[in-house]
Amino acid sequence: MQYFFSLLVHWPLYLALKLKADVLHHKKALLWYEDAANFPKQNFFQLLAKRPYYREILYYRLGSLGAFFRHIYPAYEHFKINSPRDMVLGGGIYLDHPYYTVLNAKSIGKNFKTKHMVTIGNNNNQIPVIGDNVFIGCGAVVLGGIVVGDNVKIGANCVVVKNVPKNCTVVGSPAYIVKQNGMKVWIKL
Ligand SMILES: CC(C)(COP(=O)(O)OP(=O)(O)OC[C@H]1O[C@@H](n2cnc3c(N)ncnc32)[C@H](O)[C@@H]1OP(=O)(O)O)[C@@H](O)C(=O)NCCC(=O)NCCS
Repeated sequence: MQYFFSLLVHWPLYLALKLKADVLHHKKALLWYEDAANFPKQNFFQLLAKRPYYREILYYRLGSLGAFFRHIYPAYEHFKINSPRDMVLGGGIYLDHPYYTVLNAKSIGKNFKTKHMVTIGNNNNQIPVIGDNVFIGCGAVVLGGIVVGDNVKIGANCVVVKNVPKNCTVVGSPAYIVKQNGMKVWIKL
């Protein structure tokens, strides 16, 4: 049922996306195809119906057109992108049941993966920069004007308020590094 509703409502959006991506080569619209590639077995309409948080991603990527569609078929209210309109959100984002997850960053790199109850947000009026291939586990909090490097894993319930170097795993609150370049370590951030 949900699928047919999605099919009905999202046709114009599908056509607009094709126009923006395939004809106008609009960068953000093109990134959508990298997001959708995570779900090769679901078509556009199934993806938007079965994984409603991807509606939020698509609407975000399509700017004012997406904002218009948000009124017709609301995005998923328990997942929010609060970032500035010009935030760079890399392609290939993978959201695994991101209930009550809020993303407010300056930029988020490609292949970002996250879970439920994650907060990326503001501290002292500054927001983070997140690198490529970053994973953030459930309940984790990443705050302030910090940089999280490429290939970083942030463990469940971790609180990160300082820069994280690339290629490492951080856990705990306050966060510390438990792995760097594949080696076990114990380094305070
Ligand atoms: C951090 C995480 C990504 C694992 O990364 P990893 O690089 O493979 O690290 P390891 O599993 O080898 O763990 C390294 C060390 O950190 C500890 N650790 C792992 N996750 C931790 C966490 N969330 N909090 C505290 N310590 C943690 C491990 O016990 C291990 O400690 P040890 O060296 O004393 O044995 C994973 O543990 C995690 O937290 N995943 C989140 C998964 C999630 O959100 N699931 C939701 C399910 S719906």
